[in-house]
Amino acid sequence: MSFDRTIKIAPSILSADFADFGREIEAIEAQGADWVHVDVMDGHFVPNLTFGPPAVKAFRRHVKTVMDVHLMIAPVDPYIDAYAEAGADILTAHVEAGPHIHRTLQAIRAAGMKAGVAINPGTPAQALEHVLDLADLVCVMTVNPGFGGQKFIDMSEKVRTLREMIGDRPVHIEIDGGMDPQTAPKMVDAGADVLVAGSAVFQGGSVEKASVYGDNIRAIRSAAEGAAKAA
Ligand code: DX5
Ligand code: ZN
Repeated sequence: MSFDRTIKIAPSILSADFADFGREIEAIEAQGADWVHVDVMDGHFVPNLTFGPPAVKAFRRHVKTVMDVHLMIAPVDPYIDAYAEAGADILTAHVEAGPHIHRTLQAIRAAGMKAGVAINPGTPAQALEHVLDLADLVCVMTVNPGFGGQKFIDMSEKVRTLREMIGDRPVHIEIDGGMDPQTAPKMVDAGADVLVAGSAVFQGGSVEKASVYGDNIRAIRSAAEGAAKAA
């Protein structure tokens, strides 16, 4: 995985048909997804529960691009090796998930993955000050994690602050929650390069009607690229 700040659209399979993940992943990739975003929830760190390492390992066989695994679980450390073994390219842990995010990020890299750190809407950018050298991606949550289809919470000031804190480091800024053609441009203008979108990609489409996924991805991308050019 080489680093650049071009706009990347990462559909979240949280909004896919849970009985058909393999074909859903293939459909979004064929329709222009840059990365595949995989939301792991434990019913403890967040109120919702999704899937764990064996399912993620099964997804891997279908992902040709980048498997971006977002852990909404606590604790994280006991599961890092299982997600490496499952084939995650990027493994993201929440700064709020425990007292030792520094150790967690080191362990993710040591297991051979890119390390991401996610930050909830209520947590200040400064919480990441001492871990930016250990991160390959910062995921700014623009909803409180746990569910797809929630209302966007504007975190553009936090994104701007993080963009400045990151400076020349090769660290992606990913935005997760409520991304659509209306909300994405503001985040890109503030410094984001990876846009996660669940409902805005999957709405109206299906494996049989996959061209809708393509239309939805293109709509987000062209709105976002407009903002990137203007910035
Ligand atoms: C929220 C998840 C998101 C979610 C985004 O807890 O981390 O990735 O699927 O869904 P939308 O785009 O519908 O807000
Ligand atoms: Zn996510």
